[in-house]
Amino acid sequence: MFKSIFKKFLLTYMAISIISLLMVAGVASYFMEQEIYGQREQFLEQKALQVNRLFFQLEDNKISVDYFINMLNMIQTNDKIGISVILDEHKPANIEEFGRRPVSSNRSGTNHEMQENEYFIAYFESEEERDIQMMTVSIPLIIDDALMGEVLIYNPVANVELITANVNKSIFLTFIAISIPLALLLFFISRKFTTPLIHMNEVAHNISRGDFSQSVAVQGKDEVAELGHALNHMAFKIQGLEELRKDSIANVSHELKTPLTTIQNFIEGILDGVVPKDQEENFMEIALDETKRLGRMVEELIVLSSFEKKLVKLDVSPNNIGNLVDGVFLQMKFHLQEKKIRVEKRLDTTIIAEVDQERFRQVLINLLDNAIRHMPENGKIEVCLEKSLDKNFILEIHDSGPGIKEEHLPYIFERFYKADPSRKKSGGAGLGLTISKHIVEAHGGEINIKNGRDKGLSVEITL
Ligand SMILES: Nc1ncnc2c1ncn2[C@@H]1O[C@H](COP(=O)(O)OP(=O)(O)OP(=O)(O)O)[C@@H](O)[C@H]1O
Ligand SMILES: [Mg+2]
Repeated sequence: MFKSIFKKFLLTYMAISIISLLMVAGVASYFMEQEIYGQREQFLEQKALQVNRLFFQLEDNKISVDYFINMLNMIQTNDKIGISVILDEHKPANIEEFGRRPVSSNRSGTNHEMQENEYFIAYFESEEERDIQMMTVSIPLIIDDALMGEVLIYNPVANVELITANVNKSIFLTFIAISIPLALLLFFISRKFTTPLIHMNEVAHNISRGDFSQSVAVQGKDEVAELGHALNHMAFKIQGLEELRKDSIANVSHELKTPLTTIQNFIEGILDGVVPKDQEENFMEIALDETKRLGRMVEELIVLSSFEKKLVKLDVSPNNIGNLVDGVFLQMKFHLQEKKIRVEKRLDTTIIAEVDQERFRQVLINLLDNAIRHMPENGKIEVCLEKSLDKNFILEIHDSGPGIKEEHLPYIFERFYKADPSRKKSGGAGLGLTISKHIVEAHGGEINIKNGRDKGLSVEITL
């Protein structure tokens, strides 16, 4: 029903506040009423005792009947209460009853049995049609241990109800007076809490539609702010990946197109007789190299896709990793010498690990090939293999090449990603590291790339 979070917040707050306020008002009103009735009862009882005392004075003949009656009349008018002195057959001869008897009452039994002060509601006859409801207190008249009758002091219930109604009205007015600023306050609090969420929702929607133009303005340090940061970070990553995805189709087409064009041109040249006869063999060899390169690239794409579909099964066996690394350097010896690259090895040759020999060799060739390709002449490659505390071993290959710009590092393992925009230098398809990462992770290991402290790139494999 309440789709917007702002409405939900506001209505929940309002409901909680109004319920609490109503409860407070209800409790206050209840206790005020109790207090008012209590005070009224006390007042009536005081008057009853006063009448009681007068009655004893009359009984002792200390005051006259006339004085007694005058006094009662005076109390009645002064205090706006009703007085009845009700006597039974044991009454002293000199005294008469005073006032009216109630028509009916809600008292249980009679005071004759209880002989103590009592409160009840009694109905007294009135000039109007209905009898008047009176709040009544009765105290027994006891002389020489004999019950002689009772004094009733009464007061219209309507009077007390009027007072409580007034009190309730003020409580209600206070309630309204508090509610209005409270509602405003809740409105602003709800808006303050929900505005960032609503904004984030908007941004997330835009991102899902591929619009990265907006980002979340983060305020404060709470969980909502963290969410905002996370959203911005996510948008940044997605945007990068999105560009990469678009690029990658272009890349793969480009990578396949270049060698194909070369091959096509060479064959056409030979067929058209444009290429001199003595050069033909040379051209054919270059074309053959290009077909091999194409074949490798397609092969890499197939390998990659089988890794991505998790179809690859490793063929692991215990291998001496130090010897494996040595073997790869020997295999690449020609390329290293060609660029006059110095190699510094620190290999722990006692390390034996369960690896798929062919795949692991492929990773090392990839890394070494990258390093050689990006390094200037007379560079240096350092390899270090040592035991690891929590894993089996750490292998680090550090070259003295140009390294990779920090902004490219997060994407370096994405397929077709090439940090070098000219592409000339690399010559590859940008799949080497992607495949390497898949292989290392399939072994349960980790591969990390960072720039060296001074210069060059450092690749670390932990297995
Ligand atoms: N040692 C390095 N020094 C500098 N840049 C590097 C190094 N290794 C990799 N890179 C950068 O990372 C990019 C990705 O490397 P990757 O091995 O995945 O692809 P590639 O070498 O271009 O192609 P492929 O390996 O598929 O033939 C490279 O294009 C290059 O820009
Ligand atoms: Mg490579």
